[in-house]
Amino acid sequence: MQKATQVTNDIYYVGVNDRIKVYFENLWPLPRGVSYNAYIIEDEKTVLVDTVDTCYVNEFSRRIQSVLGDKPIDYLVVNHMEPDHSGAIEWLVTRYPNIQIVGNKRTIEMLNGFYGIEENVLMVEDQGELSIGKNRLRFFLTPMVHWPETMMTYVPEKKVLFTGDAFGTFGTLDGGVLDRQLNPEWYRDEMIRYYANIVGKYGSAVQKALQKVSGIEIEAICPTHGPVWTIPENIAKVVAMYDRLSRYDADEGLVIAYGSMYGNTGRLAEVIAEEAAANGVKEIAMHNVSKSHQSDILRDVFKYKGLIIGSPTYNANLYPMVESLLSALENRLLKNRFFGCFGSFCWSDATARHFGAFVQGKPFEVVANAVVMKQGMLSEVEEQARELGRIMAQKLTSGAEVVPNTSVS
Ligand code: FEO
Repeated sequence: MQKATQVTNDIYYVGVNDRIKVYFENLWPLPRGVSYNAYIIEDEKTVLVDTVDTCYVNEFSRRIQSVLGDKPIDYLVVNHMEPDHSGAIEWLVTRYPNIQIVGNKRTIEMLNGFYGIEENVLMVEDQGELSIGKNRLRFFLTPMVHWPETMMTYVPEKKVLFTGDAFGTFGTLDGGVLDRQLNPEWYRDEMIRYYANIVGKYGSAVQKALQKVSGIEIEAICPTHGPVWTIPENIAKVVAMYDRLSRYDADEGLVIAYGSMYGNTGRLAEVIAEEAAANGVKEIAMHNVSKSHQSDILRDVFKYKGLIIGSPTYNANLYPMVESLLSALENRLLKNRFFGCFGSFCWSDATARHFGAFVQGKPFEVVANAVVMKQGMLSEVEEQARELGRIMAQKLTSGAEVVPNTSVS
């Protein structure tokens, strides 16, 4: 039987790895899988914090037994009701009929809504506490990180914070669970991809949550996905990363995302990238939207402060996959970016009109007019593309702040 990993005295990891699912939320690729993390706190009362996806109940049950044997569980704390974490609740209440489920008002509504559970529930308030023996549980309501009922649970005596999706990453836990048992750098990009795709819309909620827990001492962060953070330097790094991402702050780098049917718009993208690199931008992420998965593009958009998007005109509109990308960016309330756009058409141009509508009212700085090409790259349009690359590079390498200006012509 696999053993549960000890996080600290009395606290054990009892989560599972999912190496089978292809898409998280049936949307986001899982090339390196994902873990669903759950934890046991052993005290006079025994507490389980969160559960796992319903597909992994057998493995979850074995992990719990490896810590508790046949002992009952007194409380289940539900920090988040999304079914990747609440999926085993129906099994749990059958296996442990006397278990009390602890959550806030919204959690309790969802327990009934998803699973028809109304009994044996204990409602807690923001900053409320529950004694479980020599340890206490303190609850911080953190709505919209990532659903309205999300909360964090803190054990003051151990300085351990259970954070739900916050500070979580894609990627399974391969052998090790704690950051000191594995290479944290391996998870960095997957943490950003998780943030950009799953939590990215809720930057202001993340900021409020960070403020709420800013005064507490933390010796371990236990999220619902990915490694448990225990090394002080790593804790500081992941908190700083969440702070930056949720403020839409980003590194000096450039994303060029473009659609191209026959390669003509793609040639503009290459020229822009070449010129940006020649002018000092070292980190350039090029994405052909028909090939790169949108989740990788969104990850890079959250990483870098420069964003240039290109599209051919397609049925008097933008290219469908570029439209989809713009919609995803709208949905995530992206802010604070230097922005440029380019496009091509055969007989009737839609580039400037559609990109103009996209940036309207957004806190972006449009660094240059749209570069628009009729048919092939035969004329002065190449110089306009190079100029866009140069201006973007100047903005990025000078350390300038974004000054909102959304005029595209
Ligand atoms: Fe990992 Fe919002 O669920």
